[in-house]
Amino acid sequence: MVPVLLALLLLLGPAVPEETQAGNYSLSFLYTGLSKPREGFPSFQAVAYLNDQPFFRYNSEGRRAEPLAPWSQVEGMEDWEKESALQRAREDIFMETLSDIMDYYKDREGSHTFQGAFGCELRNNESSGAFWGYAYDGQDFIKFDKEIPAWVPLDPAAQNTKRKWEAEAVYVQRAKAYLEEECPGMLRRYLPYSRTHLDRQGTRCCLCPP
Ligand SMILES: *[C@@H]1O[C@H](CO)[C@@H](O)[C@H](O)[C@H]1NC(C)=O
Ligand SMILES: *[C@@H]1O[C@H](CO)[C@@H](O)[C@H](O)[C@H]1NC(C)=O
Repeated sequence: MVPVLLALLLLLGPAVPEETQAGNYSLSFLYTGLSKPREGFPSFQAVAYLNDQPFFRYNSEGRRAEPLAPWSQVEGMEDWEKESALQRAREDIFMETLSDIMDYYKDREGSHTFQGAFGCELRNNESSGAFWGYAYDGQDFIKFDKEIPAWVPLDPAAQNTKRKWEAEAVYVQRAKAYLEEECPGMLRRYLPYSRTHLDRQGTRCCLCPP
């Protein structure tokens, strides 16, 4: 019982009035896909972060989004069934992209790694930055430029990925809206459950690459 109470106190702290939205916070996601999974490394893993703190994880074995401590003690912060379904859909697209790249390079049997990172930040309640990019075998592969908006290929195989991800104009608008509206919206929704913990831990915003 004591650890639960302690976690609740850490998280809730004194009631934070709605007007104080000061401070800098980020929500980010790191995805890793392996063409050859091995013991302890499933083919797909995702970790979500609030500032530099792991907040939930998901992998291709359990296929469930699992909140991590202290968020695992918090009720009502997220619908974990819905989040799990979303991560399953993202896993499918992510692994299909890895498979397309290996087809492009005619290397179905090799051992390859695909990574994705995306997220957004709020500075004093203002949406102040976002990023979305992928790497293949540790090299930049494609990234989203939300000002154009468009996917910018950084590898020969990424031309095909760009074509697929921009097949309909609405896809690009959705990616832009995700970074500029949905992601900051989620972060604003999570902050009442998280701000006290993030501030007390002296956590760092953020994981966003420059
Ligand atoms: C923070 O920003 C959102 C979106 O612009 C707004 O709806 C909300 O009222 C703001 N909160 C505060 C405390 O300023
Ligand atoms: C938030 O970010 C702004 C701009 O980078 C910086 O000037 C400010 O000191 C930061 N605030 C906190 C509370 O870290």
